[in-house]
Amino acid sequence: MKYVLLVFALTSALCADAPTLFRQCQICHGKYAEKPMGSRIAPSSLTKDQMSYALIKYRENHQTSSGNAKIMSTNVRHFTDKDIEDISIYIKELQEQRKAEQEAQAAEKLKSLE
Ligand code: HEC
Repeated sequence: MKYVLLVFALTSALCADAPTLFRQCQICHGKYAEKPMGSRIAPSSLTKDQMSYALIKYRENHQTSSGNAKIMSTNVRHFTDKDIEDISIYIKELQEQRKAEQEAQAAEKLKSLE
């Protein structure tokens, strides 16, 4: 039983889903990946393909002129191709969620005017 649990724990650690993977990004990039870092663009503003491209470059330890790319390389070093694909899709989906939340908030505010 112990071994079954151990294998299960290892598998979930190795195959973390996108929301779990994204938690570590939020410290720097915010709840919806809306915060840019340094001279770069907010991940939320990139297309899915641009995001995957950037993450693959960081994983390859590609350095940008700012010298801050090392920080990103550390973050995605252990990501598989699938992790990168999944997290890029997830970040785009989050933007839909963010929009819906903002619209709900706006509707709430309008109601308080009545
Ligand atoms: C410790 C802070 C930190 C964490 C955590 C972090 N990032 Fe970053 N991120 C940065 C910095 C700094 C840059 C700018 C690096 C550079 O100059 O190229 C950056 C840049 C990026 C870019 C490039 C944006 C562009 O303009 O091309 C993407 C995409 C990105 N991060 C996504 C992520 C994702 C996804 C995660 C979680 C797996 C993550 N980041 C975690 C600090 C962080």
